[in-house]
Amino acid sequence: MKRTAKKSLAVLLAVITLFSCISVSVCAKSTGFEVLRVNCTMYGDSKTQRGFTWYTEDYCDTVIQVVKASDYDGTFNSAKTYIGETSVFQDYYCHKVVVTGLKKGTEYKYRVGSLTENTWSKTGKFVTDDGDSKFSFIAIADVQASSLENFEQAAKVMTAAMNSNKDAEFYVNLGDFVNDCTNDEWNWWGEAFNKANTSLTIAPVAGNHDGNITNKLNIGWFANMFNLEAGEGAGNGVNGVYYSYDYGDAHFCVVNSNDMYPMVQAQRNWIINDLKNSDAKWNFLLLHRAAYSAGKNINKPDTLAMRETIIEIVDETGVDVVLSGHDHMYFRTKQVKGDAVCEDVTYVTEKFNGKETTFAKNPDGAVYILPSTAGTKRYTVNENPIDPINECADVALSTRDMGGCFANIYIDGSKLVYEAYVVDDETQKVTLIDEYAIKKTTKAEEQEESKLPTDAIGTIDGSVSNFITEILGLLIDYIMFIPQLIAGLF
Ligand SMILES: [Fe+2]
Repeated sequence: MKRTAKKSLAVLLAVITLFSCISVSVCAKSTGFEVLRVNCTMYGDSKTQRGFTWYTEDYCDTVIQVVKASDYDGTFNSAKTYIGETSVFQDYYCHKVVVTGLKKGTEYKYRVGSLTENTWSKTGKFVTDDGDSKFSFIAIADVQASSLENFEQAAKVMTAAMNSNKDAEFYVNLGDFVNDCTNDEWNWWGEAFNKANTSLTIAPVAGNHDGNITNKLNIGWFANMFNLEAGEGAGNGVNGVYYSYDYGDAHFCVVNSNDMYPMVQAQRNWIINDLKNSDAKWNFLLLHRAAYSAGKNINKPDTLAMRETIIEIVDETGVDVVLSGHDHMYFRTKQVKGDAVCEDVTYVTEKFNGKETTFAKNPDGAVYILPSTAGTKRYTVNENPIDPINECADVALSTRDMGGCFANIYIDGSKLVYEAYVVDDETQKVTLIDEYAIKKTTKAEEQEESKLPTDAIGTIDGSVSNFITEILGLLIDYIMFIPQLIAGLF
């Protein structure tokens, strides 16, 4: 009896083991088509195009279905289908597609996946540029996490940013998305940032941890994680990608600062050509390594080699705002030109979004901003940075014990307003740590603004009001005359 029981138990265990194997393999098969790391990027014309990238563990076709949000009924029956390309990168299947022919200023819903396997991502959304000069975006930097927990902590900062600026139309990540460029890290990034990456278009900037061949042989990671229209001469994106895009009345030139020992001539020339061709009112330069910061990297040879080139380009091309990362602390310069503070900046205080705001008016030079890190690796302030960093600094702050950071940038015609925030690690309470604003007016705008109002009399309201005033005046005169009239009678 005892022997039979043992036998039965062995058979039972074998059956359980067999079924678990089948179930694991079925499970592995089904999750092999799971959409990972999906993201929507700027790609060429921001009014009509977007780039998409995602990954799967198993091979399948590359399909995206896109439909106007106003036509979305919970299905993709009326969606337009685009077919992209599947390639292999680091043992995973990389899916890329460019969506074209979009309508400007329109919100779209989409899903990515496989038609043959009928496996799809959750529904994502994005909005196209309406070409209007009013829009806003979010900037974060240096998540550089190496565990799911740390990516999730940084994603809380991104969520706080999206809650604080619900009208943001895209977000800029100033580089160092990950720490070691492993499949695990990019999967964790995709998981933790899924909400942001499927709600907003990203303008990604290559950080040294995302593909710096001089340090870590992270060849091609950045170029394979994002679908970007690389600038002329950018090659195959071995250590990053440089590109540019217009949005509203602003131009964004995105530099690959991994190409700077010293900067490769092709990129330098491309940046100058790109910025000189811009006729936008606002010009931004986005790059990972900061030319101005009080972090630990500002005195290093790679930064010294590139800052001279960057400063020269910014001055020559009339860039307004430079946004950078790399130094994991908060830093903002005054208006700077020729590696020195601009004198004679005048200010004007006006209302912006209902709040009294002080604008630097038509200032010379550019402002260099490092919005600290959205992640958990935070540096202290370097008290002895190279000259003239301390003179140029308006704000230098370590956010080490404060939380992760983000910035909101609002543009409305001639006004640009920048706000920097820290998010408490525990409570996610959002606190403003810095703000800056610029007003840039043309002569025609100045004349328009200083014009005296002439419409009060010309309007119907004005005429009616004048008429009533006149009648009331006559009536009062008449009433005042009555006592004299009565006195005359007697
Ligand atoms: Fe970095």
